[in-house]
Amino acid sequence: MRTKITAAITAIGAYVPEDKLTNADLEKMVDTNDEWIVSRTGVKERRILKGEGKGTSDMVVPAVKLLCEKRGIQPNEIDCLIVATVTPDMLFPSTANLVCDKLGIKNAWSFDILAACSGFLYALTTGAALVESGRYKRVVVAGADKMSSIVDYSDRTTCIIFGDGAGAVLLEPNIDGYGVLDSILKSDGSGGKHLHMKAGGSVKPASIESVTNKEHFIYQEGQAVFKFAVTGMADVAYELMQRNNLEADDIAWLVPHQANKRIIDATASRMGLPEEKVMVNIQHYGNTTAATLPLCLWDYRKQLNKGDNIVLAAFGGGFTWGATLLKWAY
Ligand code: UT7
Repeated sequence: MRTKITAAITAIGAYVPEDKLTNADLEKMVDTNDEWIVSRTGVKERRILKGEGKGTSDMVVPAVKLLCEKRGIQPNEIDCLIVATVTPDMLFPSTANLVCDKLGIKNAWSFDILAACSGFLYALTTGAALVESGRYKRVVVAGADKMSSIVDYSDRTTCIIFGDGAGAVLLEPNIDGYGVLDSILKSDGSGGKHLHMKAGGSVKPASIESVTNKEHFIYQEGQAVFKFAVTGMADVAYELMQRNNLEADDIAWLVPHQANKRIIDATASRMGLPEEKVMVNIQHYGNTTAATLPLCLWDYRKQLNKGDNIVLAAFGGGFTWGATLLKWAY
């Protein structure tokens, strides 16, 4: 009988830019205040990637380098590299292709996945399937976004939320039952009207008019998205628990997408988890879209133990949402 192969995370890497944009800085840019931002979102500061010619790939590259150092492998030993992002360096080629070039990765195939804030879960599930198939031994899954490139810093309803960052994990085959055990992923394109970018795609290519009308920035109807996110993320995480016969006591960590502290709290409460089991770093980075989940794993890496059951959950543009169950492998 063929042994079941699972995809275990065997290393993590992350990168956040040095430059910080604090709530005090934003108070000078738009009509807002620290008290409103902290109480409504939980964000205190975000990181911003500055510098001419710098894009999302410039954050993925150091994250993947770090991951390789941690695992003791050379980048060229990677078989496949997937980048989840809504802020690719350019529309094409994929940011993953560019990352491979910058790292001298010659033996891999690579592609991007676009699922907004759920991008890392979509990419993790895809990468895990490649490993489970037995065809690929080292698959890197990165989540990265330079949200500052699509944020309108005169719009107080969005500029307070988003930040830049990248995180990456290495997936390798495991035959002892560690790694990605289950995923429930969902999408509903009818939610697109509440959260999207109006121009720059094939429907409305860039024009002087689209630039003047600020249509290359994030358009978000905050309250509508909040309503769907708060139930969507909690419901799917709960569904995953039930499908795997897990009680709150069986779960070591919830790794929630860092969009809004109130959405995180609602998800934890639905799962019956105390706050000590919930990874939160939104105060430091804001919402880094596809990067929030690997950035959490990175920040909490020293508190993870072999065998921990970890539930990752996300909700974002699309709408896309989902939850993944992991058994930590080291
Ligand atoms: O990760 C991708 C998915 N995205 C999300 O999950 C985001 C979901 N949405 C949210 O997190 C929240 O809706 C926001 C943080 C975007 C907004 O919070 P809210 O509690 O929904 O605020 P609101 O839009 O209902 O606005 C309440 C009030 C309004 O004033 P009035 O009409 O009550 O006088 C806004 O104009 O707060 C005002 N407001 C602000 N005040 C100070 C909106 N933005 C700000 C601001 N500073 N930055």
